[in-house]
Amino acid sequence: PLISSKAMLEEATAGGYAIAAFNVHNLETLDAVMKAAWEEQAPVILQTTPGTCKHAGIKYLVAMATAAAETFPLPVALHLDHGDSADLAYRCIDGGYSSVMVDGSHLAFEENIALVKAVVDYARERGVQVEAELGRIGGVEDDLTVNDSEAAFTDPEKAREYAERTGIDSLAIAIGTAHGMYKGEPTIDFDRLGKIREQMAIPLVLHGCSGLPDGMVRRAIAMGICKINIATELKIAFAAELRAYLEAHPEETDPRKYLKRAHSSVKDLARVKIRLAGANGKA
Ligand code: 13P
Ligand code: ZN
Ligand code: NA
Repeated sequence: PLISSKAMLEEATAGGYAIAAFNVHNLETLDAVMKAAWEEQAPVILQTTPGTCKHAGIKYLVAMATAAAETFPLPVALHLDHGDSADLAYRCIDGGYSSVMVDGSHLAFEENIALVKAVVDYARERGVQVEAELGRIGGVEDDLTVNDSEAAFTDPEKAREYAERTGIDSLAIAIGTAHGMYKGEPTIDFDRLGKIREQMAIPLVLHGCSGLPDGMVRRAIAMGICKINIATELKIAFAAELRAYLEAHPEETDPRKYLKRAHSSVKDLARVKIRLAGANGKA
């Protein structure tokens, strides 16, 4: 069965490693991530954006993730990524998601707290873990676009108040990472990460890990990050292999054939990221 990511993330925090959380979109990407986790014997988080919930449907996504967790007996959580309303979070929880993020980072502080607290109250009774965001992570993630002038770093003291008043299980922090690939090397405010860590004991989540140099990811994990989110790099790998295959085999119409290399490129990359997180062998 799918399990809440709470224990997974707390163990990772205590163990000084991170769980790799991958955005998946369909059977092939979900299966590729699961096979990567199985080969690495790693706990794993499968996550879907609101756009993917709409595209594939919550029922299909829960059924596929549940089947995957039965086929590959590992700690597996299904997580809503950047949930854009309490209503969607409730529908995911009712539908069988074991973890949700509700993203009120665009709201004023008090409104953000009110939104998130309502979801925490609902989720807690149902054994589901809740992630939320304070500050604003820049970049483009599906339907969510945050430009440079809107992006804002997480205030460490506000973060503590936010965590206490909402009762969240984990916090997504803004320290300079961004969704999508980077133009040049990003500047990450590691001092801020240190200050946030001093303020609270709950698991901390790093979004925007595609394109982030390995050394920065490792340093963030060493400083207390216990979940790394990866979306864009997997999408690029899948699309690149699919495009190359179809260009080389314009006559091929069998999806089992033309998706094969796209599938294995996602699996290979997911294995690399799991090892980068240090989650290999932790299942
Ligand atoms: P990337 O697309 O940069 O990997 O960010 C993923 C993410 O943060 C998903 O929430
Ligand atoms: Zn994100
Ligand atoms: Na990124």
